[in-house]
Formats: sequence, structure tokens, C-alpha cells
Amino acid sequence: MSADSWIEPLHQENRHFAPTAEFSKNAIAQPAIYEQAKADRLGFWADQANQLHWHKPFTQTLDWTNPPFARWFHDGEINISYNCLDRHVEAGNGDRVALFFEGEPGDNREITYAELTDEVKRAANVLIGLGVKPGDRVAIYMPMIPEAIVAMQAVARIGAVHSVIFGGFSAESLHTRIEDAQATLVITADGGYRKGRASALKPAVDMALDGGKCPSVKNVLVVKRTGQEVGWVEGRDIDWGTALASASNDHAAQGFNAEHPLFILYTSGTTGKPKGILHTTGGYLTQVAYTHKNVFDLHADTDVYWCTADIGWITGHSYVAYGPLANGASQVIYEGTPETPDWGRWWSIVQKYGVSILYTAPTAIRSFMKLGSQIPKEYDLSSIRVLGSVGEPINPEAWMWYRNIIGGGHAPIVDTWWQTETGAIMISPLPGITTLKPGSAQIALPGIEMKILDDGGNVLGREEPGLLTITEPWPSMLRGIWGDPDRYKETYWSKFKNIYFAGDGAKFDEEGNVWLLGRVDDVMNVSGHRLSTAEIESALVSHPYVAEAAVVGAKDETTGQAVVAFVILRRNQLENAGSDADVSKILRDHVTKEIGPIARPRTIMVVSELPKTRSGKIMRRLLRDVAEDRPVGDVTTLADTSVMDIISGKIAGGASD
Ligand code: WT7
Repeated sequence: MSADSWIEPLHQENRHFAPTAEFSKNAIAQPAIYEQAKADRLGFWADQANQLHWHKPFTQTLDWTNPPFARWFHDGEINISYNCLDRHVEAGNGDRVALFFEGEPGDNREITYAELTDEVKRAANVLIGLGVKPGDRVAIYMPMIPEAIVAMQAVARIGAVHSVIFGGFSAESLHTRIEDAQATLVITADGGYRKGRASALKPAVDMALDGGKCPSVKNVLVVKRTGQEVGWVEGRDIDWGTALASASNDHAAQGFNAEHPLFILYTSGTTGKPKGILHTTGGYLTQVAYTHKNVFDLHADTDVYWCTADIGWITGHSYVAYGPLANGASQVIYEGTPETPDWGRWWSIVQKYGVSILYTAPTAIRSFMKLGSQIPKEYDLSSIRVLGSVGEPINPEAWMWYRNIIGGGHAPIVDTWWQTETGAIMISPLPGITTLKPGSAQIALPGIEMKILDDGGNVLGREEPGLLTITEPWPSMLRGIWGDPDRYKETYWSKFKNIYFAGDGAKFDEEGNVWLLGRVDDVMNVSGHRLSTAEIESALVSHPYVAEAAVVGAKDETTGQAVVAFVILRRNQLENAGSDADVSKILRDHVTKEIGPIARPRTIMVVSELPKTRSGKIMRRLLRDVAEDRPVGDVTTLADTSVMDIISGKIAGGASD
């Protein structure tokens, strides 16, 4: 019998797991929370907001007179960093560890709330000294080290707006984002440790700014992490360590309007241009703190929380940089990759720090599952009491493995559905209340109203797949797309009047649980990261070899979806290009350079035609059939119905790796 032979086939999705009486008794969220929110939704949100410290109390909870532009708590004033830091020190919890930092090479640091507050105050003074003013944009391009969180907190503390750019994005992506937001300062590091090596970051910043390409940027603050050699532009570049050491640790947090912009985070949409999703202060922190506490059942004085997301994604904002700190939690942050030095690394971290709440993505769980249960079983994971999942649907097999092997057969799993745009968790079980059903994100959280609609806006019944919508505004909702109010209205609010359309398909099962059915637009989900087909297509056609490109997300066992690109080559370039395999590597490298390694296509298929409708729209559905090795569906709307035969025939010898 193999170690994993207990894993039964798919019918497990109909099994139910009720919380134990003991878990329920001690849970933060009790069943009455649903009734409270139902009875007085806005009163409920006001109560959640009032768990925070307000420099000036608000008198109105929601202003929705000008939809889709919501204002939450808009006459109140708040400082997000004060709420995450000073507040806990003043309450006598300064000695509690805020961050257990584990570097990839094995170095570690414990940083208490008092120490973190001190460091953020110094950083705030450094930013002020560099002329950063409230409302100014600061780009952050950093590895997962404590300084990344210090930087975000310091920027927010002084009312500036951060735009964190994932360290895996290329210089070109960095450039576009700095330019779009007109950032005045970039905070970066020489590099970080990944896969056992020092991986440089500063050169990408230099390339992005090269030759005055981003004239808005006045300075670059550089954290020394790896000590690797980096270029230095005198007068522009400043050493973080030196600057902080000589800065004062005296900084009184000032209140900002609840609707003051907090951050921009770029995400992929259906066009080639990433959208700068804008979040503001009071409503965001309210929902992030509320969800972090209730969904993960956080007991701040005893739990050790670990969310494995990078700060480059929304999960790293809401559930690393803000939520846990707002709630005074002790959390682990880990710099590196799960396989370094071996696939036991995460479990050794859980054992070492006594992690009790673990929040990660299905793609990671599936990778571990493939390697078998033996590796995690070598570690003591008995501290774990709550598990979380985010980014894509978690398949019932992975759910069961997660619960049995990582969660000791008893830990509740909260499958949390939300988006960069929603800012915080929207649909999820509450671990002390909900009877769990593997594979379903279950029900809307108290305070959230959702419906599943058909194309015409009709409410659908159980077992009828349709479009997931949010029918009432919520505190942490996006407030817009940076610099593009029309795109904001068009993308999210034009399909149904004053109703938010999330872009996801969904259905209720016969028990009223929500099942997410994937994106209904041209957005892909690779390892829980959002990628746009159009963005990768435009990267591909920017290469001289490529005449036309069509990208689809094909099902992938580990990463959920994988990027598969169909390309038509320029005939006159063909002889330079050599064999298909060479072209494949060249083009995959090109996408890596243009966007970053996360967008690198798994497969490049060289074709002579693309399936198009008579109006010229590429029929991605048919390409997905080919990429997933299925019989090709209905081709009658194609301008040339023979195209699919040619493509399918060609694919038999397609280039992949
Ligand atoms: C898209 C949002 C939310 C932080 C990470 C991703 C998909 C997210 C789930 C889930 C099924 C999920 C949706 C959504 N998604 N969580 N629990 N079950 N699908 O943020 O990059 O903004 O992507 O991720 O398709 O629209 P994002």
C-alpha cells in the first residue's frame, strides 16, 4: 500500500466536515455574526471599522450616491500604520514578535512590534527627508525580507501611495508601471536569495530607469540583502541601511481621510495594458482586519500565522503587510522557494516556528502532493490548526491531502475566494461555523452580498452555472483604475447596472454552496497568478519573428492553467529562425524578458493559420481544445473551417518542453 493510497477518487466532493465542538466553542466568529450582518449590513461594517483606531471618528458608513464610485467612512480620519504598529505597542504588546523572518540561506531575525514600529518611523523620516509627500507614488521592487514590509508601512504611514511590483517582473514591466503611476521614488534591494542563489533586483531598476526613461523618479533607495555588486548612480541612489541608521525614530502618525489612496497594484486584464487597481485606506483596512481575524480564527496572543504569498500580489498586501499587523499577529515571512535546499523546507519552517495558521495556494499543495506524503511526515506539524487556500479552485483531492497530511486530519480548510479588485476575502467558510465541503468556497462572508446571474441579469437557481456578481458595495472594494475612470466603469460595472461583475463563472450547488468555475474572460490563472492572454500576445508580436500570436490557458495538473501560445512566423524570417524548437526557446525567452518568468509560455506551437471568425476575432475556445488535446468543438462560425484541420494536424509535431 502506498503512502497515499487513502486518497479516494473524486466522489469525495460530496463529503462534509463539520467543525469539532471544541473548535467552535473557542472560535472568534460565532453563528450570530451572520444574523447581525443580515439585520443591519452597514451597522455591521461600522462595528468592524470601530475595532480600529480612528484619528477622527466617521459619522457616515457608506456614501453610494455616485455609483460605481463608493466612499466608505469618508468623513473619518485614520492612519493605517498607526493601527498596525503603534497601537499594539501602546497597548503593552511591544514585546510580541511581529515578524519571524526566515531567509532562504537559513539566516533568521525576530522583530517585535516595538522594533518594527521603531524601524517604520525611521523609514518614514527618511522618505520625508527625500521629499516624499502625501499622495506621491513610491514603487517597491523587493524580495520577501522584513524591509519590504517596513517600506510599505512607511509609505502608507506618511500618506504616500505604494505600487509594489513583483520581483519576478522584468525591467520592461517595471518601467511601464513606474511610468504609469509617475512614481517619484523606487525602493529596491541589491537582490534576494532564490533557489540557493543570490538573484539580483537592482539591475532591473537601473534598466527600467536607464537614460532618463522615467523622469518622475528622483531617488532609488537600496536595501543591502545579498551584498552582491550593483551599479550606483551618484545623487540618485541611496543606501537604505545608512539612511535609516541616521534617521530619527520619532514620528507621530497623522490621520488621513478614510478615502485617501493607499496603494496601486497592477494586475492583468483582458487588454495588453495592465490595470493599476486603486485601493484606499479606511474601508480597506476594515475589511482586511475583519476577514483576517474571522476567516483564520486568529487568536493573536497564541497563534503563529504564515501566509506564503509574496508582497508583489494582493494576498501579500492584505494578508501579510496589513491584516496580520492590524490584528497584532505574530507571523512568519520566508524569503525563498519551497524546494530550497529541499522540498521539506516549508515543513521545517512550520515545525521551527510552531505555525498554527497556514495560508497558501492550491498549486503549491498539488506540487507537494505529487512528491508524496513522506516528506511532510518527517516533520512535526502538530501546531497547525487552520489551513487556508487562495488563488484558484482547490480540487477535492488536493483539499483532502492538505487536510490529512498537513492538517493532521482535523484542521479546517478555508477556501477563500477574492480578487485584487475586492481587496479582501469575499467568499469563504468560517472555520468554527461552516460545515466544510471540499472544493467549494462555500458562502459569502457576513456583510457581503452576492448573486449568480445569467447574461441577461436574471438570478439563477441552484445547479445553474452563471456569472458571479457582488450586488452591494463592500468596504475594501477597489476605488478605480489608476488614471482611467472609464475603464473602471466599463470593466466592472457595465454588464449589470450598479452591480460588480467579477469575471468569474460560478454556480450554487443544491445546498447553496458556491462553486467557482474559472474566468469567463480572456484572463488566465497560472499558479494562482493572473495573466492576460492579450498581454502575452502583444509581447510575442513585438518579436521580429512573429507575425501573429494567440495565447490560451490550457489545463495543467500542477499550475491549474499553463500558457500555450500559437504563433504564425514571418516567412522572410523563417530561414534565420532554424528549427521550430529554436524558435520556441527564443520566443519563450523573449516573453520572459518582456513580462517576466511567470508569463513564460509552457508551449509554443508554430502554425500557419489561426482560427478566426468572419469578423476577425480569434476563437480561443478552439485553440484550447487543441492545447488540451481534445476533439475540436464547433467550427461553423470560422471564416475558413479547414483551418482547424491544418492546426490539429500540425500540432502532432508541435514544439513544447
Ligand atoms: C482571480 C483573482 C485573491 C488573491 C489571489 C488572486 C481566482 C481566487 C479563488 C478561489 C477559485 C479563485 C478567480 C479570481 N480565484 N481565489 N478560492 N477559488 N478561484 O488574485 O490575481 O486578483 O485573481 O483568481 O478567478 O477572479 P487575482
